[in-house]
Amino acid sequence: MTEPIVKGRNLVKRFGSVTGLNHADFDLYPGEVLAVIGDNGAGKSTLIKCFAGAHTPDEGQMWVEGKEVAFKSTHEAREHGVETVFQTLAVAPALDISANLYLGRELRKPGILGKVFRTLDKKRMRKESGEHLQDLGIMTVQNITQSVETLSGGQRQAVSVARAAAFGSQVIILDEPTAALGVRESAKVLNLIQDLRKRGISVILISHNMPQVFEVADRIHVQRLGHRAAVITPKTHSMNDAVAIMTGALQVPESEQTLGPVNVPV
Ligand SMILES: Nc1ncnc2c1ncn2[C@@H]1O[C@H](COP(=O)(O)OP(=O)(O)OP(=O)(O)O)[C@@H](O)[C@H]1O
Ligand SMILES: [Mg+2]
Repeated sequence: MTEPIVKGRNLVKRFGSVTGLNHADFDLYPGEVLAVIGDNGAGKSTLIKCFAGAHTPDEGQMWVEGKEVAFKSTHEAREHGVETVFQTLAVAPALDISANLYLGRELRKPGILGKVFRTLDKKRMRKESGEHLQDLGIMTVQNITQSVETLSGGQRQAVSVARAAAFGSQVIILDEPTAALGVRESAKVLNLIQDLRKRGISVILISHNMPQVFEVADRIHVQRLGHRAAVITPKTHSMNDAVAIMTGALQVPESEQTLGPVNVPV
């Protein structure tokens, strides 16, 4: 049987007296789009922040590609191929688009200039950023040297998504990627997610937008009160069911959940 590419068991995360995660389980299978839904405060962001290396769980275990991991930084998670676009965007507003795309993994000039003097290869970064953005087709930016603070909220979000998608990651986590986007931009992000899936990348999509979730997800993890309440699919359950599970009005026995992988083209 296919093993999860990202797995968590019994994860607990406390913030003082507040419990963010309360014995949460999690499974993401290779090549799937897994939506994570749940009410405000259900622990969705806290959950993915553990896999993103932004939080260290107080209890529980995590695995990536079958290997147990204990990430101490987002950098470490990235080295394991897990890239995250956080709900509160981690872009550097004063820097331009290409600098943001390459933040933390800047390209150096070849030879002694790069190796000894650490000179950045801005020209190459700009050229390649332009190509990445064009490839992804999610934004039209006239000028790649435009600083990110001058972009619209939606364009900034697009830069973050592009950043996550551009670097050969295996797992991409998107926390509310379309919340700030207009209809057209949202549609582009959904296309991008489908594109990533076609390229064999596994995607975790946190969203409150039910129609989007039901359109794009292979499986839907419903988070409630800090743990996984159920895993359903758009084929087995309706949007009303999903909302009922979120609010606790509906409980789904394990035999009616989709805890294992569904057939996804890889
Ligand atoms: N850094 C923090 N310090 C204190 N409490 C926190 C912190 N981060 C999260 N929490 C608490 O943990 C719980 C889960 O929060 P989380 O952000 O994971 O919810 P969420 O499901 O992502 O909600 P939303 O849909 O509003 O984004 C909430 O009660 C929240 O107040
Ligand atoms: Mg959140």
